Amino acid sequence: MNILLVGSGGREHALAWKIRQSPLTSQLWIAPGNGGTAALGTNVPIADTDIPALVRFAREHAVDLVVAGPEAPLVLGLADALAQAGIACFGPSAFAAQLEGSKAFAKTMMQEAGIPTAAFAVFEELEPALAYVRKHPLPMVIKADGLAAGKGVVVAATLAEAEAALRQMMAEKAFGAAGERVIIEEALTGEEVSLLALCDGERIAVLPSAQDHKRVGDGDTGPNTGGMGAYSPAPVLPDAQAATVAEQVITPMVRHLNALGHPFVGVIYAGLMMTAAGPMVLEYNVRFGDPECQPLMVRLESDLVPIMLACCRAGLDPRDVRFTSRPSCCVVLASQGYPGAYRKGLPISGIEEAAQLPDTVIFHAGTSLQGGQLVTAGGRVLGVTALGDTLAEAQARAYAAAGRIHFEGCFFRKDIAHKGIHRTP
Ligand code: AMP
Ligand code: GLY
Repeated sequence: MNILLVGSGGREHALAWKIRQSPLTSQLWIAPGNGGTAALGTNVPIADTDIPALVRFAREHAVDLVVAGPEAPLVLGLADALAQAGIACFGPSAFAAQLEGSKAFAKTMMQEAGIPTAAFAVFEELEPALAYVRKHPLPMVIKADGLAAGKGVVVAATLAEAEAALRQMMAEKAFGAAGERVIIEEALTGEEVSLLALCDGERIAVLPSAQDHKRVGDGDTGPNTGGMGAYSPAPVLPDAQAATVAEQVITPMVRHLNALGHPFVGVIYAGLMMTAAGPMVLEYNVRFGDPECQPLMVRLESDLVPIMLACCRAGLDPRDVRFTSRPSCCVVLASQGYPGAYRKGLPISGIEEAAQLPDTVIFHAGTSLQGGQLVTAGGRVLGVTALGDTLAEAQARAYAAAGRIHFEGCFFRKDIAHKGIHRTP
């Protein structure tokens, strides 16, 4: 099979790594890919949002399966355009991708499907939104409706913060069109966890839980990032409970979309808050998480390619999706300054030495090859990922490997998986 993988992050390197291991894979292209994916297939310089160019490439190269890594191409209709061209796409239609592309859409669908989520109101004008926050208890959560690269959410502890966030989104248009509509939500408390499932439109295969670390600093301090590390499974949502929780937060959404005539194909990702009243959905994503994908892929024992094909052909058998019980941990090495401005083009060394450690895989996120030299090309540079017999062993291995890698300005959180290891049940 000829496969085109869309995207360029650590998630895509982890997917390319699994896809390359499949005996079904003949040619693998990655658009646009990174310094790591270049070793597993052929990088093609097409932006992940250039839908016509992606479809043209797939047609011209007899691609059998397109795998969408990030959300942007899906929201823009990649799966729909490929369907018209008769090419299978692992990833949902533009309609279903609104689950991630519009928070108001997601909330409405959750309400209709009876899925537990925070109470909310939607506003398209500033004055009524300001009046609402003045009447409701703090803290409250202000969210830009559209895609804002993880930056469109403010948990406001004071009225001044809430008003400032609303003005920034709705009057100053800090997130452009994404903030023209705003969701104001009740704040939930608890531990966050990611629960993902593969879906063929009807059936789901629930994956083991994972936990991301969104803040840049140790102890969950500092600004939000794309994710500084992840581990799986997360003891806050053990394997024995994952199926039951999925029945509450994923199955009803899959059924609802199907009933609306828009079956969901691909990965449905529920960002959950494990509250005292049970799991509640903070958000849906319509793709693998990044970095969550990296600890999940090293645990996946099954061949990913036939599973993705089965999802596209409405023939998913959840029993075909098997994971090792061994936990995994992924530590992101980032560029000094991230999530703000950072330098690029700095030489990276030590990856081969790090990858020699047992059960360790170094996934590239923001890297590129410049005349044979691997250099930094993004804020999140590498995802150092390891398996262990225990979560503590996986963590120790990931940090041992991280310590062997060097580039100027490299930094990483020192407490990835700490919460999982030290959790008191
Ligand atoms: P979202 O993109 O909706 O997942 O929001 C990003 C982050 O904001 C989440 O990972 C949570 O840390 C936080 N957050 C979102 N919604 C809420 C809520 N209702 N209560 C508390 N924290 C929230
Ligand atoms: N790691 C969070 C996300 O992929 O959205």
